Parts: sequence; structure tokens; C-alpha cells
Amino acid sequence: MKVLSVVGARPQFVKLAPVAQALARTGRVEHVIVHTGQHYDAKMSDVFFEDLAIPAPDVHLGVGSGSHGVQTGAMLTGLDPVLSEHLPDWVLVYGDTNSTLAAAVSAVKMHLPVAHLEAGLRSFNRRMPEEHNRVLTDHAADLLLAPTDEAMRHLTTEGLAERSVMVGDVMTDVCHLVRDKVADTPLADALDVTGFGDGLDLGQPFLLATIHRPDNTDTRDRLGAILDALRAAPAPVVLLAHPRLVAKAAEHGLDLVGGSLYSTSPLAYPQMVRAVMGAAGVVTDSGGLQKEAFLLGTPCTTIRPETEWVETLAGGWNVLDDDLTRLADVAVREAPIAPRGTPYGDGHTAERVAQVLLDRAR
Ligand code: UD1
Repeated sequence: MKVLSVVGARPQFVKLAPVAQALARTGRVEHVIVHTGQHYDAKMSDVFFEDLAIPAPDVHLGVGSGSHGVQTGAMLTGLDPVLSEHLPDWVLVYGDTNSTLAAAVSAVKMHLPVAHLEAGLRSFNRRMPEEHNRVLTDHAADLLLAPTDEAMRHLTTEGLAERSVMVGDVMTDVCHLVRDKVADTPLADALDVTGFGDGLDLGQPFLLATIHRPDNTDTRDRLGAILDALRAAPAPVVLLAHPRLVAKAAEHGLDLVGGSLYSTSPLAYPQMVRAVMGAAGVVTDSGGLQKEAFLLGTPCTTIRPETEWVETLAGGWNVLDDDLTRLADVAVREAPIAPRGTPYGDGHTAERVAQVLLDRAR
């Protein structure tokens, strides 16, 4: 069987890692990896392939940044000949980025079977580009691999139950493996504080933050309010600045430092896991990071009005604070006593994904 995975953005490389290993372990799958080039900075792309031992992409489309239409269109143009050449049994798409949608559209138009990993997530917030990408991809795909019971419920409500299989979440597979590897790594090796001057002592409680969503970065008022709230946080905040955030802060003339706020570059995956494990709290608008905080037992505060990962809210592990009124009180808080359970699977999801793809290949 031939599986062709299409990835392009940072969270997709994390999901690809356990899937690539599980497909290889079957001994029965030829796996072709296509990188669209949506993320191209070394820290957003190359380090993930190196650290997570993902085979180098077989094809790199080199699409780069652009408006949604320009970026997605360039991917479609690049993918058509690649899919025609390989004619895989499955085109496997991951998550909810423009790379996901482009690959799903290109494949269905060529009558190639599409499997969507992480199907069925919904924020019901139609302002999010990811929400358009998820809904359109789910309705185009032939096989929907759902990470949670909640995702299965959404797919059923939308009439897609027959095409759906609940497999669990591959991010649990990779997160647990890496957690066990980095548990003994000194925090200072994961989070280099030499650039922060004398002001940051990792022996004291600190918050780890990321902000990158368009709704939080694209207007000066909103981004300014978020940065002000982080500057006023009750503990030092290490902001891992995504390229979009850096670009938008520069455009708006806003500083990414001051008060409690320190900024540095995005971290590689093992360093990120170690930093989350060592932080007193996480403040983010990322979907993946909300879930990683939950899996690693670190309280999270999410700067969004809603979350697709509703299981993280149970027991107060994750708190939504879109209007920034609670951050000062809740960002540093005791980890809840409530047990988290295993809503994101048992860490063996990638094996199930490989088996379902083998079982259902036409
Ligand atoms: C994309 C995904 C988002 C995901 C995020 C993870 C879409 C619609 N969004 O958002 O779901 O959570 O990736 O990080 O697909 N840039 C660089 N270098 C890079 C990549 C981006 O400088 O390697 C800059 C460019 O200025 C670019 C901007 O970041 O215009 C945004 O990048 P883009 O890929 O369009 O979206 P993300 O915000 O990264």
C-alpha cells in the first residue's frame, strides 16, 4: 500500500512523526512525504524533522507565505503533478491548516482516496481559518480519523458517521514519548535564559506563553491589550514568539518585552515539552499547546473565546480568558486535584491509524 502524507506547518510535523514510524513498522507501506513549504524557517520546520526522526520529505513544494488564496492556490498547483505521479492508495492530511485543505481538494478532484487525521474538531468560530479548513476537509475526505469522542459526535451530527473512525490522538503518542526522554534534562538546557539579562530566574515560577492566531495578532488594539496583560502578569512570562507575532508586533510598533514579559524564539519540540513541564502555567492561543499542557499536567490559560479541545476544560486544567480579565488571577494557579483521565487516547493511536489505513484501502 502507498500512503502519501501532505504536511506543511509546525503542528503537522509533530503529528507526522508517530504516524511515519507506525507506517514503517507495518513493513507493508510505502510512505511518501510531501512538504508544502508553508513553514520554512529552520525553527518552524527542519528541527522537527531532525528531533523527531522524521524521514526527509520526498517532495518539497516550497510554497512559502501569502494570503490564504495565494498560499492555498500555490499548493494546489504544486500538488496536482505530485499526486498524478504517485497515485497513492491514501492521501493522508493532518489537522486544519491551509496545507490540509489544499491536499484534500487536490486529491478528491483526482479521485484519490483522502484520509483526514484529527477529523471532527469544531470551534464553531467561523472567523478562524482553521475552522473553514476543518469543515471543508472533513466533508471532502473519504476516511475521517477522529481524535476524541467529542469529535465523533460532531462528525455524526454532520452526517459523516459512516466515514468516521475514533482512533485517538497521535499527539499523545509523541508527547508521552518525548516527555519520558526529556524528564531529566535540566530546564536551563531547554530554555536558554542567557539572552534575558539578569531578570529571569528559572528557579522561580514562570509562565510559558505563545500567541499567533490572526484574531489576536492582526489588530494593534488586540495585540497591544494582550501584551499589556502579559507585562502585568504575576510571574515572569517567557513568550515564544512565532514569526507571525514578530511580524505583526513590528508592523504595529509594539514591544515584545517589558514588565513581566520576556521574549525568545520558538522552541524545538523536546525543549518545548521540557519547558511546559517546568512552567507554573501556560498562556496560549494554540490548540496543540493547550493539549500538551493538559497531557503534561501544567495548568493552561487560553486567550480565545472557545476551544476545540473541550476535554482540557474539565476540572479547571484549562481556563478560557478571551477578554483578559482573569489572567492576573488565574495564570499562576495550583494544578487541579481532579484527575485528567485519558480523553486523548492511550499513546498508541498511530498504530491504529496505520491499521485502519491498511484495512480500508480499496
Ligand atoms: C499556521 C496555521 C495554523 C497553525 C500554525 C502553527 C493556517 C491557516 N494556519 O498559521 O492553523 O496553528 O500554522 O504555527 O494554515 N512565517 C515565517 N516563517 C515561517 C512561517 C511563517 O516567517 O516559517 C510568517 C510569515 O510572515 C507568514 C506568517 O508567519 O505570513 C503566517 O504564516 P502562515 O503559515 O500563513 O500561518 P501561521 O500563522 O503560521
